[in-house]
Amino acid sequence: MSRRFDFLVIGSGSAGLNFALQVADHGTVGIITKKDRAESNTNYAQGGIASVMDAADSYEKHIEDTLVAGAGLCKREAVELIVTEGPTVVRELMDMGAAFTAHAGRLDLGREGGHSHNRIVHAADMTGREIERALLSRVGSHPNITVLEHVFAMELITEHHLGKHVTRYDDDTHCFGAYVLNTISNRVERILAKTTLLATGGAGRVYAHTTNPEIATGDGIAMAFRAKARVANMEFIQFHPTSLYHPGADGFLISEAVRGHGAILRNADGVAFMEQYDTRKELAPRDIVARAIDDQLKKRGEECVYLDLTHLDPADVRAHFPNIAAQCAEYGVDITTERIPVVPAAHYICGGVVTDLDGRTSIHGLFAAGEVACTGVHGANRLASNSLLEALVFAKRAAAKAIAYASRAHWHEHVPEWDYSGTINTEEWVLISHNKRELQQLMWNYVGIVRSDLRLERAFRRTRLLYEETENFYQRTRVSVPLCQLRNLITIAYLVIRSAMGRKESRGLHYTTDYPQPDEREKRDSVI
Ligand code: FAD
Ligand code: SIN
Repeated sequence: MSRRFDFLVIGSGSAGLNFALQVADHGTVGIITKKDRAESNTNYAQGGIASVMDAADSYEKHIEDTLVAGAGLCKREAVELIVTEGPTVVRELMDMGAAFTAHAGRLDLGREGGHSHNRIVHAADMTGREIERALLSRVGSHPNITVLEHVFAMELITEHHLGKHVTRYDDDTHCFGAYVLNTISNRVERILAKTTLLATGGAGRVYAHTTNPEIATGDGIAMAFRAKARVANMEFIQFHPTSLYHPGADGFLISEAVRGHGAILRNADGVAFMEQYDTRKELAPRDIVARAIDDQLKKRGEECVYLDLTHLDPADVRAHFPNIAAQCAEYGVDITTERIPVVPAAHYICGGVVTDLDGRTSIHGLFAAGEVACTGVHGANRLASNSLLEALVFAKRAAAKAIAYASRAHWHEHVPEWDYSGTINTEEWVLISHNKRELQQLMWNYVGIVRSDLRLERAFRRTRLLYEETENFYQRTRVSVPLCQLRNLITIAYLVIRSAMGRKESRGLHYTTDYPQPDEREKRDSVI
């Protein structure tokens, strides 16, 4: 079976939906998404969108804060774009009906680590849900947009599928759409498209502990890598300092906005330890706070540290953080009277599919925006609440170029149907869940907040074994979403480890005990 669209959008988070709305007046748009339409990292975003909305703030300060966090690897032009186009995209969201927290008609601007001014536009502590709701309601009413839920993108279609040998050095590879697995009919379909946007989000699920929902398996980066697109800076994984420490909480995030509101980090003895690590204390950039917590846990042999809000006004805390208060209460913690047990967890991937300032990848007709992309905005470390902003701004910029590209492009008529050879091999299904768990644990143990050559080499060897076993299984077996996701996670692990092994310095989110300082000679992107 095959379908065709002028614009194929893979992913229904902030990047995919904003792109779809921008191109929808210029042709047919198909958005495919592997679960329900709202299920995305976007939907769980808490803190908000960083944007200069206050007369006392300035673009220069936001640019400077972003560049400082990025530790020398941000592309200044990309940073300038998100900062200067930020207020427009925030107003566009408000025009679509996004209700951000405001008092007497003025936006309530929050504060997060690394920001020199209050500039976080938010909807209480459920900003992502409000943005997703507003975007989806617009998408749902546009006659040119079709949303296909429970459809999993497996492979990007390029000249490779027409029998040509494609390499990473070619500059004339084109994307003609994607092979997708319809998980309701269990059939693989061809979707032919004049342009394709990757908006598949992040890859937090490559780690045993993450704030990301289950969809974050790095599919877009892995697909693009297999299609021979350029991928960069995969070693820069951001660990959020504070996820709820509770066996049932599955990495539930305690927003940085809580620290921005005055919460204090304490160890089990009640000592406020951040002042030992950075003069900005709780509001130091995330990598510093996460490493400080890691250091406390290792030195003291404890399982978690604590976030203390008990000195703050309880009514005010509940009003600002209703969702966090409710979720913590479910796990038996009253955040106004008790300290919240927290640990760091994998949160965001700064690297991804390389794009230019207009979302174009190294493959013609293939665009990327949002967490899947590496635009140059974040460099070696993302400033808090810059990712929703980047996703929205770059999706819009990519849309402008995709419209022009689609007007000249055509559907490729000779793309073959998917080859279904392979058997259903039920006995070995358990291999998928075992290998996934093993991969997530080894990434957590050896490729985490603090790295070393020895740990990375160990991770590399074990990942290679998992790769060989899983590829062998894949060659013999009918495709399924769990199997495809495992392959993608293994690819992500390989890219992260390989990039980390290649960086012989510590910079931003990449910290290794073998090279604990930044080295000017290593100040470059890790492009694969
Ligand atoms: P997503 O929103 O993750 O959307 C990806 C979409 O792609 C989903 O619909 C998914 O189902 C789909 N998809 C993935 N693979 C496939 C496939 N193979 N086939 C079909 N569909 C697929 N950032 C901020 O700026 N501010 C915040 O306050 C903030 N808080 C956060 C809190 C949490 C708990 C988390 C996890 C992240 C937070 N972030 C925050 C980061 C931010 O939410 C994400 O970086 C951003 O939402 C990414 O948007 P996106 O559109 O690129 O991807
Ligand atoms: C948070 O609310 O702490 C997350 C913000 C972000 O990831 O940018």
